Amino acid sequence: MKRFLLTSALLGISGVVLAGSHNRTDDRQRIRFDSDWKFQLDPNPVLGGTQVSKWQWMPAKEIHDLSADTIPDEVLNGTWRNTRVGRDVFRNSPGFAWFKADLGTHFSAGKGSKRVISFESVDDNCIVFVNGKRIRNHEVWNDPFDVDLEAAWHEGGANTVVVLVENTGGGGGIMGSVTLRTIGAKEDTPAQSREKFDASKWRTVHLPHDYLLESPFTPTADASHGSLTQNPAWYRKSFTVPKSYAGKAVWLEFDGVYRNSIVWLNGHKLGFHTTGYVGFRHDIAPYLHLGGVNQLAVHVDPRSAEGWWYEGAGIYRHVWLNVANKVHIAPDGIYANADLKGKIAKITLQTGLTCESSTPEKVRVVARVVDPSGKTVLTFNAFAKMGNHSQAAIGQMASLPHPKLWSIETPQLYHVETTVFDGSRQIDHQTTAFGVRSIRFDKDLGFFLNGKPLKLKGTCNHQDFIGVGTGMPDGLLDWRIKKLKEMGSNAYRCSHNPPAKELLDACDRLGMVVMDENRHLGNATGPKTPTGTPTNDFPELREMILRDRNHPSIVMWSMCNEEPLQGTEEGGKIFAAMMKEVHKWDTSRPITSAMNGSWGTGFSLVEDIQGGNYYPSGYDDYHKKFPNQPFLGSETASAVSTRGEYVTDPKKGYVSAYDVNFPGWAQPAQVAWKAIADRPFVAGGFVWTGFDYKGEPTPYGWPCINSHFGIMDMCGFPKDSYYYYKAWWGDKPSIHVYPHWNWKGKEGKPINVWVQSNCDQVELFLNGKSLGKKNFPAHEHLEWNVKYAPGTLLAKGYMKGKLIVSDKVETTGAPAAIVLKTDRSKLIGDAEDLSPVEVAIVDSKGRVVPNAANIVHFAVTGNGTLAGVGNGDPSSHEPDQAPTRSAFHGLCMALVRAKASSGSIKLTATAPGLKSASINLSSEFSSLH
Ligand code: GAL
Repeated sequence: MKRFLLTSALLGISGVVLAGSHNRTDDRQRIRFDSDWKFQLDPNPVLGGTQVSKWQWMPAKEIHDLSADTIPDEVLNGTWRNTRVGRDVFRNSPGFAWFKADLGTHFSAGKGSKRVISFESVDDNCIVFVNGKRIRNHEVWNDPFDVDLEAAWHEGGANTVVVLVENTGGGGGIMGSVTLRTIGAKEDTPAQSREKFDASKWRTVHLPHDYLLESPFTPTADASHGSLTQNPAWYRKSFTVPKSYAGKAVWLEFDGVYRNSIVWLNGHKLGFHTTGYVGFRHDIAPYLHLGGVNQLAVHVDPRSAEGWWYEGAGIYRHVWLNVANKVHIAPDGIYANADLKGKIAKITLQTGLTCESSTPEKVRVVARVVDPSGKTVLTFNAFAKMGNHSQAAIGQMASLPHPKLWSIETPQLYHVETTVFDGSRQIDHQTTAFGVRSIRFDKDLGFFLNGKPLKLKGTCNHQDFIGVGTGMPDGLLDWRIKKLKEMGSNAYRCSHNPPAKELLDACDRLGMVVMDENRHLGNATGPKTPTGTPTNDFPELREMILRDRNHPSIVMWSMCNEEPLQGTEEGGKIFAAMMKEVHKWDTSRPITSAMNGSWGTGFSLVEDIQGGNYYPSGYDDYHKKFPNQPFLGSETASAVSTRGEYVTDPKKGYVSAYDVNFPGWAQPAQVAWKAIADRPFVAGGFVWTGFDYKGEPTPYGWPCINSHFGIMDMCGFPKDSYYYYKAWWGDKPSIHVYPHWNWKGKEGKPINVWVQSNCDQVELFLNGKSLGKKNFPAHEHLEWNVKYAPGTLLAKGYMKGKLIVSDKVETTGAPAAIVLKTDRSKLIGDAEDLSPVEVAIVDSKGRVVPNAANIVHFAVTGNGTLAGVGNGDPSSHEPDQAPTRSAFHGLCMALVRAKASSGSIKLTATAPGLKSASINLSSEFSSLH
């Protein structure tokens, strides 16, 4: 393949519209391929193997030598206790322990394949014995490995695996999934992948789709992934294509499939893709039945994890069918960058073209830059000679005076309209959004957007929501960004992986700066990167940069998070190689990472911005030692709280909502933010997390199945700390008093009352009587000890002596009615878009009853369906997809999805003994093209 680089000059700042004034014959189509998929769990998951989930363990009495060849008799005949994958049997202490599991009798390998047992993570070092024979040793907790079973397998007899594990520190044990599987088998064409396979009886699903949340919560399933059993599954889709696709380039684009996916078209295996976090494409033109029916089959296997949080399962982002002429704009081929100097932006435009035909062609490319008001402000022209199956890259440059800047407050976008002509015939066209803004990280003064300082008030987030899991529709991604903005947040860290493209579109559109993060250090596939990872190719990183580099919202690239190699020479080398890769595609943004130790070594020596996870006590020291390196809190707080709970209850897995609970490595919200707010050199911080997510229950495990880190819960309902951030991040006077005021039986007893506000002074009143006025300390909160009496607790906020804002909690009556509310009543009728409807249980005066737990029943009529439910209770085992949900502290949520048509939709909510409620929504049809 040849590469051409043509540079042409700017032809003029003119409004001449070339595209569209010619006959369009380009046939460029980008069809959303999300509807009418058939789905079934894999009934015989031979492709991925069988989970070994039932384990027993016993402590080891002595320190063991990890070269032992035999298992001591007292171990074989000892007393074993049941355990499960993911359990820390060491309870955070160093030591040794024995584990054993039954591998069954029947497990055969096909011809040309062998049996193995695959360990995702044994923490830390181990010896694996099969049927009493030592097969292999393994070191390091985060390095998946296979154990060959062939030499020790008892054909037709009982088979047992015993593992001696050494824990050197922290938690330990058999921490990641263990799978019995065959490798090298001829399982490339299972029945479900074949063209003739009949999937008509399978369930029909619509993408984005996450099926993991359909499985019941199980105490033995992997807690970090939400205590849900991960199974492989099949998707199939039939589709017809017209004969006119003959001679065209046709490719499928999968935006995200979790995980280890294999795709077949009409029985032809198109390829395998490991990671769930970047998309992939398959050229399907050679295998299409033109004018006929085509059968697409996708196998997904989520059982080997990439992270330690809920990662979902399935085709959880969009799929697109792309059709273009043989000579076309390359996927992610357009890169528009604006370098702002004073009042002039230097616009650099790169256009990548692909020629898939064997005849050489000369094409003309016209690119118009259109400003936010729709006016063409620049026009670029260039010619490219395309050879036989070649690619071309055109680089152009021009000055744009007085550009309209993208900012948090005015997130306005420019577009490039690229049109390709063969003579006067238009053969391709594409619209690409970009923005004009300047970014700068200063070593002493933090981050600057368009020359003005902007403290980054950020949150880290995973992609996960009630009812839909990781399969979040575009509108919901957008809704969550709005929720974060309402709180006063201006920055978003995509932890710990590139997000859905539509999330970045939302950040561009709404005004939210982004730290876009690559999943792994180097080219790894497990949760953490082991030593020896290759540095010669970074396909996932490349995919992220090429896909995302036009987004003005992205202000830095993060290479990875908390890698064991972060402070090593090897880590530094891999990091430098990754930076080199990024710079091939984008030099306009600084590069960083999230380090949780070893600051000043490894990555620190090569990266542009030093990131610190949970490091407030070291900020000053680092700045003193490395005064020339900009700094930010890449991950902060990790404070834990349960919405509406004011007493910590380990049995239920709840932690009180006062800002006092945090794991050993973390800090309360107030400590974390104050450290950033007080230091101009710290560019800002990213709180762990904006929203709760499934999995990673902390500090308690089962029955808790959710994280507690969110400032908002799983439904986006604010917890009390939300108001701390609203006060110190927002730009309006704010005040919030808590806890609730329903403490029957505690009359006369002291209640700890907190107020979050940004006022100068706050005065608290109980039933009209002042309990004192206090000065409000910056970036902190106020507390009162109040003897409980039912009634009204009122907090008044003063600025310069003037009453400016107030908040109250009142003792409510019993639950009397349901109230429904949504800020998304107009939906796109595309079978995907949905409205999160807030459901409140109120008393006869319309006040939310803080301890109400009524079970609410939902019915949707008209043009919609009920997509899911939730209530933010981190220990609730009620299903996410059901017609009922209990309220948690007076609130729950229903997701109402529009069908693929226009019409009105009605949600009705009922509960025994309560006045029911209904809400009207509407949808307007949108085709999936
Ligand atoms: C961090 C990690 C996050 C999350 C968090 C919980 O160390 O980067 O992914 O696990 O801890 O506090």
